Amino acid sequence: MKEKIESYKAELQSAMAKSKQELEDFRLKFISKKGVISELFDEFKKVPNEQKREFGALLNEFKEEAQAKFNSLIEAVNNQSADEVVGLDLTLPPVPSAGSIHPLTQVKNRIIQIFERQGFNVSDGPEIEDDFHNFTALNFPENHPAREMQDTYFIEKDPDILLRTHTSNVQTRLMEKGKPPFRSIMPGRVYRNEAISARAHCFFNQVEGLYVDKEVSFKDLKQTLYHFAKEFFGPETKIRFRPSYFPFTEPSAEIDISCFICKGDGCKICKYSGWVEIGGAGMVDPNVLTSCGIDPKEYSGFAFGMGIERIAMLKYQIDDIRLFSENDIRFLKQF
Ligand code: DAH
Repeated sequence: MKEKIESYKAELQSAMAKSKQELEDFRLKFISKKGVISELFDEFKKVPNEQKREFGALLNEFKEEAQAKFNSLIEAVNNQSADEVVGLDLTLPPVPSAGSIHPLTQVKNRIIQIFERQGFNVSDGPEIEDDFHNFTALNFPENHPAREMQDTYFIEKDPDILLRTHTSNVQTRLMEKGKPPFRSIMPGRVYRNEAISARAHCFFNQVEGLYVDKEVSFKDLKQTLYHFAKEFFGPETKIRFRPSYFPFTEPSAEIDISCFICKGDGCKICKYSGWVEIGGAGMVDPNVLTSCGIDPKEYSGFAFGMGIERIAMLKYQIDDIRLFSENDIRFLKQF
């Protein structure tokens, strides 16, 4: 037994632990209930009485040594894991991840920039609007089916107060307040009582344009939008006007641009037609000018309206309008 203790002692002295696992191995081997020390104490029971004193002392000494060694190994392993994080300054402030400008804001800013260079300024108007500025002044006769084109949210059952259905309300507010010439673009949020889907939302953004002066013609409208389309979608972009109807413009047109993905050959984005619609436009109806206190014999003007989400979806090939308002960082990060 004496030799056994001596050989274990030698092993104990040379033992090292570089990791928590090695520390555990040491504990299992020497200190645990099934370890060397327990085994020696079992053997000790069989030692003849006259030798008990001598072996007992040896055994206790060995037990204490093993425990002390174990404690020093614990300390070594702990210090080592502290060494590993040397070089990491825990007092440094966390690095904030940089945010980015929302894609709709980016598109809106770019649109503003292009029109500002053509002499337009930016105007704003209320989102909570009355019937007159959203409909009546824009030549929507009362009970006229044209009002049904835009499913309206009314506020507190008062049919006179509503959430604006388009940014055209800013046209009327601008014209009734000031004197021509007006050359303004009006970006803003609008609301419609529509079922939410990948293509439609109950709120979205538009940008309205208005140019009223002496002798403004359809030619000016075409040239202004042609310039915008080339600047925004690329220099080869073509533009076309399709006859349409809006109560506030006469004549009215739907604005299409040549598909900038397939260059007019036909693809999924343009539904194989080679053209994509970006908005509506026309010459301001004389009735609208009159409603706003402007003499249509002296002045004429053009107006247009485009959906900002629609333009952003075309530009970045986004196929679901809901992504713009979900605040999903994985989406927003890409812009
Ligand atoms: N207000 C129309 C809409 O929301 C868009 C529009 C079309 C605006 C023609 C205009 C315009 O100013 O001239 O659908």
